[in-house]
Amino acid sequence: MLTERQIVQVLRFAELAYEANDKFHTIEHAKESARISLELAKAEGGNEDVCWVSAMLHDISRGLCEKNGCDHGSEGAKYAKEFLVAAGGFDQQLVDGVYDSIYFHNKEFLEGPIERQIVWDADKLQSFTLDGFKSRLCTYWYERLGEKWLAKVKSEYQFYYDRFHTKTAQLIIAKHRPSIEAYINSLEAQ
Ligand SMILES: [Fe+2]
Ligand SMILES: [Fe+2]
Repeated sequence: MLTERQIVQVLRFAELAYEANDKFHTIEHAKESARISLELAKAEGGNEDVCWVSAMLHDISRGLCEKNGCDHGSEGAKYAKEFLVAAGGFDQQLVDGVYDSIYFHNKEFLEGPIERQIVWDADKLQSFTLDGFKSRLCTYWYERLGEKWLAKVKSEYQFYYDRFHTKTAQLIIAKHRPSIEAYINSLEAQ
């Protein structure tokens, strides 16, 4: 179990790190990912501490890597590990689990520890409710691609839809799918 002090340490470190990120990858995105990852961890039997810390820190290198062209999963995993080791008191199993989950959160994989699967799902789930779909996926691609945004959104929606790992997340996305598809159809009819 994480101590009160460790939770505060992670939150403080995350708040600073996320300042370098764009508006889609803020500390709120991290906190929402962490909240969802705890729900998934309870439902799927994952280690809650590993899931929470990983989700809180998963995008800590996003802003830096957008500038430098590095891989923000690999870079973030290293950075998180450095922080946890330097902070002290986090056990080795947690440090290793966090490293793995952050490393893989932006990479395709078929198998792996349940925590890795949970963190991957928790990060993406936010874009799979109708509100999240509009405010995250649609807005992100509209601002980057202009006219061609809808085709990209549709392919990305399907790409990630097929890559959720946990049963719990798959049930959630299936529930929201009809409203998202109706919204896509309404856009295409315009
Ligand atoms: Fe990410
Ligand atoms: Fe993320």
